[in-house]
Amino acid sequence: MAPVLRTEGLTVRFGGLTALDSVDFEIRRGEIRAIIGPNGAGKSTFFNCLTGVLRPTAGRILFNGENIAGLPSNLISQKGIARSYQITNILPNATTLENVRIAAQSRRHSWSMLRHHSAYLDIIEKAEAVLEAVGLRAKADELAANLSHGEQRNLEIGIALATEPELLCLDEPTAGMSAAETHDTMELVRRIAKDLTILIVEHDMQVVMALAQRITVLHYGDVLAEGTPAEIQRNPRVLEVYLKT
Ligand SMILES: Nc1ncnc2c1ncn2[C@@H]1O[C@H](COP(=O)(O)OP(=O)(O)O)[C@@H](O)[C@H]1O
Ligand SMILES: [Mg+2]
Repeated sequence: MAPVLRTEGLTVRFGGLTALDSVDFEIRRGEIRAIIGPNGAGKSTFFNCLTGVLRPTAGRILFNGENIAGLPSNLISQKGIARSYQITNILPNATTLENVRIAAQSRRHSWSMLRHHSAYLDIIEKAEAVLEAVGLRAKADELAANLSHGEQRNLEIGIALATEPELLCLDEPTAGMSAAETHDTMELVRRIAKDLTILIVEHDMQVVMALAQRITVLHYGDVLAEGTPAEIQRNPRVLEVYLKT
């Protein structure tokens, strides 16, 4: 099966520093893939390229076969790549439901269409389904500012989901969470993974090993290793990099 996303020679230079060095990467549709690597390895830079935050210096990013490298982020979002940032997307003074509804609207309907009552109801229905999926249905009418840290992180995922992505990029989804919240978020990711492809940058190795089908290890902008969690755990080069840092 053709990969949903593939990079060819993806390169990013910041002056004299090569943050990504000709990265060739592929992810199958429906896969949960983790990207790991020490600080400065290029993980965020990789996400920034995929989501149009950063224009690569060289290389191609093929999403469903189309080169999206250098396209603006709103266009990439419309094509079906979403990313959950760390809370920055949340409107604190809107309710949980409104946060998701606004995201759903941005993808699905032009403002003029919303004059039609049925289109509006459609969006509310979609927003409610998303809240259900991220476990926030009971908090629909709560102001986002009043949610706990863990709930806000899950709302971030909901906002990304509401744009109906094919590929969802999660940047440290469990950062700052308690053990119980981490467990819930892992369940959440597994649940939503049924209909999507998920790319996840995560520091918590237990989360990575439990969630990912395959793992890509970045090191100084290079792909150091790629494989199943079991393969990565016994890869001598990976062990060396992690033991050294
Ligand atoms: N906007 C930028 N300008 C200059 N250097 C950057 C910029 N963004 C990242 N870098 C550098 O690129 C390298 C990779 O960074 P990053 O992708 O953030 O790594 P990671 O997310 O794996 O910790 C680091 O050396 C970092 O200092
Ligand atoms: Mg980073």
